[in-house]
Amino acid sequence: MKGVVLAGGLGTRLLPLTRITNKHLLAVYDQPMIYYPIQKLAQAGIQDVIIVTGGNSSGDFLRLLRNGKEFGLRRLHYTYQEGEGGIAEALGLVEEFAEGERVVVILGDNIFQDDLTPYIKSYEKQKQGAKILLKEVPYPERFGVAELQNNKIIKIIEKPKQPKSNYAVTGIYMYDQEVFSVIKTLKPSDRGELEITDVNNYYLGKNTLTYDVLPGWWADAGTSFAAYFRAITLIRDLRLKKVDSKNKDSSIAK
Ligand code: G1P
Repeated sequence: MKGVVLAGGLGTRLLPLTRITNKHLLAVYDQPMIYYPIQKLAQAGIQDVIIVTGGNSSGDFLRLLRNGKEFGLRRLHYTYQEGEGGIAEALGLVEEFAEGERVVVILGDNIFQDDLTPYIKSYEKQKQGAKILLKEVPYPERFGVAELQNNKIIKIIEKPKQPKSNYAVTGIYMYDQEVFSVIKTLKPSDRGELEITDVNNYYLGKNTLTYDVLPGWWADAGTSFAAYFRAITLIRDLRLKKVDSKNKDSSIAK
C-alpha cells in the first residue's frame, strides 16, 4: 500500500495565519501540522508516500520534509494541485504514483491519537473496495456524516444541516485502484469541489465500503481556530503525560 497526504488548499478558515504560509506548515505544539499525518503513515509501515500540496508556500514542504528519511520513509514524493478543486481532485493527481496499488489517504490537517496499523491491516485483508474511519463527535454538521442503521452505513452526507448521527467521517480513507476511475466521473459540488464523500458513497452503493470507529481522540486542526487550539492542547497533554510518567513529577505538567 502506498500513502497519500493531502496538503493543498488556501486554509481560509485560519486567516490571517495562512495569508503568507500554508496551513499544514503551521505549528501544532512542537511540530509542523503536516508531521503528524506523515508519522501516522510511517508508524503503520507505509514507506512510499506522496504529498499533494498547493496554495501558499508550497515550495517550503520540500525544504521542511526533504526526502522523508527523517520519518523512516523509503521515498517521499511531491505533486502540486492547482486551484481549489477539492480532496477528490487532489487524490486524482496521484494515479501514476499509485501504480495500481491500493492507497491510504490522510488529510494533512488531521491528527489522530490512535495507531492506524490495525485498520490498515484489516483493509489489506479486504478483497476489494474502500474503508473509512468514523469518530463520534459533538458537532457532526462540520463534517461528512455517516447515517447508520443496524451498524450499517446507509448514506454519507457532506456537512448536513441536520445530521442523522454523531459519526463524522475522519480524514483517513483507504481505496483500491478503482478510485481513480470513480474520481473521473465526479461532478463539482455546490462549493465547487470534487467531494471525497461522493467517492465514498460510490463504494457504499457497490456494497464494498467498510468502516471502523476510532476509540482515541481525533483533531481536524484546520477547521476553525477552536479546532486548531484543541489540537495543540491535545498534543501538549500527550507530550506532558510522557514526561509525567517518566519522572513521576506532576509539577512538570504545568
Ligand atoms: C473534509 C471532508 C469531510 C470530512 C473532513 C474531515 O472536509 O469533505 O467529509 O469529514 O474533511 O477532516 P473539509 O475539511 O474539506 O471541509
